[in-house]
Amino acid sequence: MFTNAIPILTMLAKPANLPTILAIESSCDETSAAVIKNGKVLNNIIATQAIHTQYGGVVPELASRVHQQNIIPVVHQALHTAQVSKEELQAIAFTRGPGLLGSLLVGTSFAKAFAAALQIPLIDVNHMQAHILAHFINPPFPIFPFLCLTVSGGHTQLVVVKDYLQMEIIGETQDDAVGEAFDKAAKILGLPYPGGPLIDKYAQTGNPLAYQFGEVAMEGLNYSFSGIKTSFLYFVQRQSQQNPNFVSENLADICASMQHTLVQLLMKKLKRAAKEYKINHIAIAGGVAANSGLRKALHETAAKLNWQLYIPDFQYCTDNAGMIAIAAHYKYLAGEFCSQQVSPLPRMEF
Ligand code: KG4
Ligand code: ZN
Repeated sequence: MFTNAIPILTMLAKPANLPTILAIESSCDETSAAVIKNGKVLNNIIATQAIHTQYGGVVPELASRVHQQNIIPVVHQALHTAQVSKEELQAIAFTRGPGLLGSLLVGTSFAKAFAAALQIPLIDVNHMQAHILAHFINPPFPIFPFLCLTVSGGHTQLVVVKDYLQMEIIGETQDDAVGEAFDKAAKILGLPYPGGPLIDKYAQTGNPLAYQFGEVAMEGLNYSFSGIKTSFLYFVQRQSQQNPNFVSENLADICASMQHTLVQLLMKKLKRAAKEYKINHIAIAGGVAANSGLRKALHETAAKLNWQLYIPDFQYCTDNAGMIAIAAHYKYLAGEFCSQQVSPLPRMEF
């Protein structure tokens, strides 16, 4: 509930059209801002932090510092390119969690200060719900209820989406996220961070059935990816002892086989969930939704099982403020605001 000193009715009694909102995303290593007006996301400015590549993963302290440098220019560019003045804004939205605490703090503090200065309400957004709502930025829009497989560097979730703000997690990873498994496999192969897109690239010319890695069976609709990562590590070490050039000589086959294994694991539970919940409107979200192997498997299964498939534009798969803007739009319409006392939630749940 919105509880700061600004009279709510005055703020909500703006013109009858849909709200103009500035949205900020800073949960991990992308600083992003977007403006939504009349239900349309006008832009999606993203400053990517290249600094983490040299460390083989996101360094939280560095991420937070770079967010501090980027946030004002990114917000400025979002307002400027949308040709929206700050006086026109009716709310400021931000990612409250889940994410890295130091990173979330930058977006949260900025949003709170900006909203207080403009005397407009604040909207806190759950990053994982926003990944799913990215489907409502551009048509075709999914039909409720639909099933969403959210696959990112931090999460792997199966979600039944009943309405814009009504979602239920029916399965999730019990250890690593699938994006993490892609990135760790890439690191084992000596590829730079984030390795997921590189595994995808090298897999294009490889044989997906060249190698097999041990899998860990998981009950129900939950996932587990840490076992496969360990067995991949032992496999590469074993092969490299016999042939020091094993990785460089077989990179495409290794990447294709690992990608195939991870995609099959994702698809197995997705198919099971669709059957159990009798839902054939299927969506994917999150950074790993960019993976070409996963997209191919989804299209093949959709054709076989008569699924209606929804895959968001690439720019709305990875972390971005456009998805925060569309989530904030629906929260605004539902009257869901937060107080100026709000703090980030690194482990925020639905
Ligand atoms: O959603 P996202 O941008 O950030 C998080 O919230 O984590 O997802 C990033 C993850 C990384 O693990 C990255 O390697 C993975 O998405 N990723 C991919 C591909 N593109 C991004 N993984 C496999 N294939 C890709 N094409
Ligand atoms: Zn994300």
